[in-house]
Amino acid sequence: MDLIDSLVANMTLAEKIGQLNMVTAGQAITGPVGGGDLDENLRAGNIGSVLNLWGREATSALQKIALEETRLAIPLLFGLDILHGHKTIFPIPLAETAAFDPILWERTARAAAIEAADDGVALTFAPMLDIARDPRWGRIAESPGEDAFVCAKFAEAKIRGFQGANLSAAPSIAATAKHFCGGGAAQAGREYGPVDVSERTLHEVYLPPFRAAVDAGCAAIMAAFNSVAGVPMVAHRGLLRDYLRSELGFVGVIISDYNAIAELTQHGVAADPVEAAALALRATVDIDMVSGVYVSCLPKALARGLVEMEHIDAAVRRVLRLKQKLGLFDDPYRRVTRADFSAQATAALAADAARRSITLLANRDMLPLPTASRRIAVLGPLADAAAEMLGPWALAGSTKNCVTTLAGLRTSLPQCEIVFAAGVDVESDDGSGIAAACAISADAEVIVLCLGERANMSGEAASRATPGLPGRQRELAEAALATGVPVVVILFSGRPLMITWLVERARAVVGAWFLGNMAGQAIADVLTGRFNPTARLPISWPREIGQIPIFYSSRPTGRPADAADPFTSKYLDLSVEPLFPFGHGLSFGGVELKNLRLNRTEFRVHDWIKVEVDAINSGKVATEETIFLFVHDLVSTTARPLLELKAWAKVTLGPSQLKVVAFTLSAESFRVLDQNFESVLEPGDFHIFVGLNADRKSLLRASLRALAS
Ligand code: BGC
Repeated sequence: MDLIDSLVANMTLAEKIGQLNMVTAGQAITGPVGGGDLDENLRAGNIGSVLNLWGREATSALQKIALEETRLAIPLLFGLDILHGHKTIFPIPLAETAAFDPILWERTARAAAIEAADDGVALTFAPMLDIARDPRWGRIAESPGEDAFVCAKFAEAKIRGFQGANLSAAPSIAATAKHFCGGGAAQAGREYGPVDVSERTLHEVYLPPFRAAVDAGCAAIMAAFNSVAGVPMVAHRGLLRDYLRSELGFVGVIISDYNAIAELTQHGVAADPVEAAALALRATVDIDMVSGVYVSCLPKALARGLVEMEHIDAAVRRVLRLKQKLGLFDDPYRRVTRADFSAQATAALAADAARRSITLLANRDMLPLPTASRRIAVLGPLADAAAEMLGPWALAGSTKNCVTTLAGLRTSLPQCEIVFAAGVDVESDDGSGIAAACAISADAEVIVLCLGERANMSGEAASRATPGLPGRQRELAEAALATGVPVVVILFSGRPLMITWLVERARAVVGAWFLGNMAGQAIADVLTGRFNPTARLPISWPREIGQIPIFYSSRPTGRPADAADPFTSKYLDLSVEPLFPFGHGLSFGGVELKNLRLNRTEFRVHDWIKVEVDAINSGKVATEETIFLFVHDLVSTTARPLLELKAWAKVTLGPSQLKVVAFTLSAESFRVLDQNFESVLEPGDFHIFVGLNADRKSLLRASLRALAS
């Protein structure tokens, strides 16, 4: 008998259910907190895992109780949300995705895992893999954006980073792919709202990142708060038991989102908490996060015949197996050693990640700032707001070492006089500082205007019906523009903000998202030209709220938009194009693509297709470009999206340099789901598009035909 078998054979019902119970220690508050004495419950064998606790002393103290004062001495599992760094905070996921750099994604996850493991944490509730196409939804900040292919690559990289090659190694922590699934499509962008997406969209868009996570060996998956087509995810047997477990073969742990099992009664699919507990367990949710209904109600569900002991045993085994894989039975106080950790290297990584996430949205011959600048006015409520730089989900982060834009510029430009005024608060109604802010700008050569959202205006429970500039920031911006001094906007946000008017009038707009501890230094590096920006948008940026949801991979219509024809798919009052397409992002200088070519015009299922394009740097400085490859299937059994991303590549080019960029595609890139959701290669014509972003007009095109095999 192995360890798990003998433990399960020895456990009482209460001890078994205890292993399925996760409670909050409340060091961070990420949801409603109930009562109950944690230590006493732990001694009674009612707790298997704890969230929202970190730190060597605090975790060890609880672990000691589990090991020395419970009958079976099963170690506790400590879980925490580590969305973009633990102590060192990296850019928010949406920003980091803009780097389009899987190696960076992996390295920041690894660094976060090392810091977290050193703090006693063994499980993180990340990566977040919700496809997000609605900037009203605050959690867009935590997501890798609008595209399933990008999201799958992000999932693989993050899981490699968190889990390493060996989950039992001290610097590894278990990853949780979340939130399964569909939450990004919440009705009208409203947090926790119901989701109603078609089965095809589920299979083509929302499920693939989770498939990638399972294939990458992700230890856990979190079932979401939301319902999909009327079935709340923690009770969704079709998607959890049948799809994840049976079809994908997922043997890891499924964790409910915070209190979500108890909320099944609110959803109206369970008459009481006993039914709620039974529904979740039968859907194969192993861990009840915080709601406590497994502990209070599973014995009753068993007595009522709503669940069988085998359901409970299977869940307990999965939880114990995870603890075993993490090495907790061998070393419950896993410690990171000095060899794993370098604070200096982590800080350098944070600066690099921040630089690589800054998305230069607009630049009318303004950036980099002239080296001889003598006086710069730094204005705006986010210019010197250290507390806002980290963004949402920075539970163990500290603002102590946060570099603001003001500080970054002062360090980078010591010869320059840099004056500062906030002008307004992020949100208040007080505009009394605007005049003074403009007055100090009068003889400046440039105004660096730091606007946007507070960190807690995105993330969970942060939907905004009007995602523009809050408070009186627009007034400050109008006043700054009216001075006649050129304005460079630094925009802090967890989402695309609707600021078309500002983009049209500012000389430059820098998308700074929330970049973490090193934000200000990285921003100064871009403004001064020490770093030539490389990030590209992982999301289409709408002009107005009325365009939402807008994403590049939409399906065709029988009546494509035509300015001359009223009976076509468009708006009377607005363009159908986003303000910035997916993939948009500027560098200093420009790259042109020419001469798209394929090594063949026809292929069969086992063939490889080589795609090449010439990239030429027409600018005066070295630059890094991201080149996207899309496919369009011209005729299929279901209408295919106008563009589907299948690959991207990065190329570094010196001034005037030409390089050939090559992609190799297999038939995989041309497969579609048929009417029964089976993956097939249909014979017929495809277009290959290559370009710098998803604006169809700007893409190079080549034709290719799939032949019957
Ligand atoms: C969030 C999850 C998070 C959990 C634990 C929930 O409210 O939706 O993303 O992992 O809390 O903090």
